[in-house]
Amino acid sequence: MDFNPDELPYVNPNEERRVALVTGGNSGIGWFTVLHLYLHGYVVYIGGRSFTRVSKCIKEIEEEANKRRSAVIEEDLNQRFLGELRFVEIDLLSLKSVEEAAIVMNATEPRIDLLILNAGVMALPYGLTKDNFEIQFQTNYISHFLLTQRILPLIQGRIIFVSSVGHHFEVTPFDRSWTFNYKPNIIFTWFRYAMAKTSGIQYMKLLSLKHPEIHSYSVHPGFVMNTNLFSYWTRLPIFGVFFWLFFQVFGYFFGCSNEEGSYATLKCALSPETLLEENGSYFKFGGKISQPSRVASNINYAASNWVWTVRELRNRGFEDLS
Ligand SMILES: NC(=O)c1ccc[n+]([C@@H]2O[C@H](COP(=O)([O-])OP(=O)(O)OC[C@H]3O[C@@H](n4cnc5c(N)ncnc54)[C@H](OP(=O)(O)O)[C@@H]3O)[C@@H](O)[C@H]2O)c1
Repeated sequence: MDFNPDELPYVNPNEERRVALVTGGNSGIGWFTVLHLYLHGYVVYIGGRSFTRVSKCIKEIEEEANKRRSAVIEEDLNQRFLGELRFVEIDLLSLKSVEEAAIVMNATEPRIDLLILNAGVMALPYGLTKDNFEIQFQTNYISHFLLTQRILPLIQGRIIFVSSVGHHFEVTPFDRSWTFNYKPNIIFTWFRYAMAKTSGIQYMKLLSLKHPEIHSYSVHPGFVMNTNLFSYWTRLPIFGVFFWLFFQVFGYFFGCSNEEGSYATLKCALSPETLLEENGSYFKFGGKISQPSRVASNINYAASNWVWTVRELRNRGFEDLS
C-alpha cells in the first residue's frame, strides 16, 4: 500500500489547538484512527458508551504512541507532537444520549476540526431501539445525523462518515420506514445495514452541498476481519467457529489489518485539501477515490432521505434540525 500516515501533516498543540471527535474510537478501525490523530497532535474526544472500555483504550493508545515515538529519529521527533485523549459519553442506541453528548461538546469546545462518524454495528438480528428505529439504522446513521446536526456550528474542518462497500446491497431505493423484519436474518440483515450505510453517504453528499465550507466525505475502510464488528456471528454457539474460520480465510485473501482499515479515514481527515477530490466524495480502501452505488449517488434520493430523517426525528421531539 502506498499510503503512510506518518507523512501526513502534524500540528503543534502549543501553537494551534486542533480538536477531533471520533465515535467508536475504542476498538478496531477507530482505535487506529484515534492513535494516528493523537500522534499528529490532535485533542481527540473518543465518543463511546463505556467509560471502562474507553479508559482502557486511552491507556493502550498512550502506550502504543510512546512506543512508536521511541522508534522515531530525534530530528523528526522535534516536528511531531502528541495531542490529548479524552472521553465523551455517547450511546448511539439512545437519541437522548446523543443529544447530551452534543450538549457536552458545545459547552466544552469552541470549534471542532474533525468529526469522524466511525461507530457502527453490522449484520445484527432485527431489533428496535427505545427510540423506535431499527438498531443498525439508528447506530450507523440516525444517531450520527442527530449528533452532526447538533454540533454543526462548531465544525470548521471535515466530517468523515465510515460507510461500507456493503451499501451496494441497497440495489433500489428502499423506503426508509422498512425495517426488513423478515427471515432469514442472514439475508435481510444486509439490507438493513446497506440502508444505513447508503444513508450516510447521501448525508455527506448533501452536507457538502449545503455547507461547502465544511468538507464531508464517506469511506469504505476495506475488509478488516479482526475487529469486533463480526462478533455476533463468531460468538454463535457451534456455528460461530465456522463463521470465524470463514472470516479468517476471506480476510487472508481480501482483507487488511485493523491499522490499514483506518487509512481511508486518515487520508480524508489529514491530507492537505489540494490532494483530496471534490467535497462530498466517497473513498474506498486506502483512501482511493471511488464511485458509490447508483442509489447512494442519486441526489433526489438523498434529499428525500434527509427530509424523512428530519421528520422522523421531529416526531420524536428533536426539533430544529434542517
Ligand atoms: N471491519 C470491516 O471490515 C468494515 C468494513 C466496512 C465498514 N466498516 C465500518 O467501520 C466502522 C468501524 O468498525 P470496526 O470494524 O472497527 O468494528 P468494531 O471494532 O466493532 O468498532 C465499532 C465501534 O463502534 C462502537 N459502537 C457500536 N455501537 C455503539 C453504540 N450504540 N454507541 C456508541 N458506540 C458504539 C463500538 O463500541 P463498543 O466497544 O462500546 O461496542 C466500537 O468502538 C463501522 O462503522 C463499520 O460499519 C467496517
